[in-house]
Amino acid sequence: MPSPRSASPELQNAMDDVAEAVNRTIERLLPETDLAEAPLYEAMRHGTLGGGKRLRPFLCMQSAFLFNVPSSRARRVAAALEFVHCYSLIHDDLPAMDDASLRRGQPTVHKRFDEATAILAGDALLTLAFEVLADPETHPDPHVRCELVTALAQASGGHGMCGGQMLDLIAERDDVNFDVGEVSRLQRMKTGKLMAFACEAGAILGKTSEAQRKALCNFAHDLGLAFQVTDDILDVEADPQDTGKDTGKDEEAGKATFVSTLGKDAAKARAEMIVAQAKRHLKIFEGRETMLAKLADYVMERRA
Ligand code: IPE
Ligand code: IPE
Ligand code: MG
Ligand code: MG
Ligand code: MG
Repeated sequence: MPSPRSASPELQNAMDDVAEAVNRTIERLLPETDLAEAPLYEAMRHGTLGGGKRLRPFLCMQSAFLFNVPSSRARRVAAALEFVHCYSLIHDDLPAMDDASLRRGQPTVHKRFDEATAILAGDALLTLAFEVLADPETHPDPHVRCELVTALAQASGGHGMCGGQMLDLIAERDDVNFDVGEVSRLQRMKTGKLMAFACEAGAILGKTSEAQRKALCNFAHDLGLAFQVTDDILDVEADPQDTGKDTGKDEEAGKATFVSTLGKDAAKARAEMIVAQAKRHLKIFEGRETMLAKLADYVMERRA
């Protein structure tokens, strides 16, 4: 899949570095096996390696950088988070959900393997994420590890990503009409919460002040919302060759998005306003936040 075109060279280089490092970590945490359950591992590797913008790992590494956290620790958290994200994509693509056949320029996991294997690959990636966080190699302090586990569980669960996915499916029903406020809540849950964990994880690893942690969370919640609005716009106007995934599916499925509730132009204007608001939360970091701010702009301009 082509790399995103609209990032500045500086941001693109930084994103490439993170992608390379996190790919190496994922390779190490998810080696091939010749045991009888090998197809499960092949499916997990298919769903995690060889593509993806690695945006959540980038957020995690950059927020950890703000607090001088050793990158070897941040990389493990970034990989764990990417496992949860990839599991969410594998399940999102299933016939019972979005019924998609293309992801990151490749056949989706249930197309390449089968539905049962895709469900299990998602389950195993989710559990592996917590195994990685609970390992002392991630952080020597057990309180930090517990905080990471709790925060990722909350971000992924019933009032987080899974809850958002439930709302996404409920909103498809003909008798349900979400207003802008309800669509915002849906998107903050399904996309914003994992992004917020990405940023909060740096603060947890760095044992930083509550104010700095809150600032990062607020930034990431807005960023996640703007990111999902752009994803919805790309579903309408982008080409699968650029996005590496099926497009035009949201309207067909009757999804509730900012595009469906506000129209494309108002959705774009809304995303711009949210990104400006997101960046204001970063002022507290007094200049060390430039990459995070650049990423916020990229989230709006991206074509993939
Ligand atoms: C896609 O996320 C799913 C959404 C939350 C919109 P990304 O656009 O970050 O997907 P990858 O990881 O780059 O493939
Ligand atoms: C999915 O949102 C968000 C997840 C939690 C996986 P979408 O359904 O819009 O994501 P894409 O467009 O398939 O990547
Ligand atoms: Mg979906
Ligand atoms: Mg989808
Ligand atoms: Mg989408």
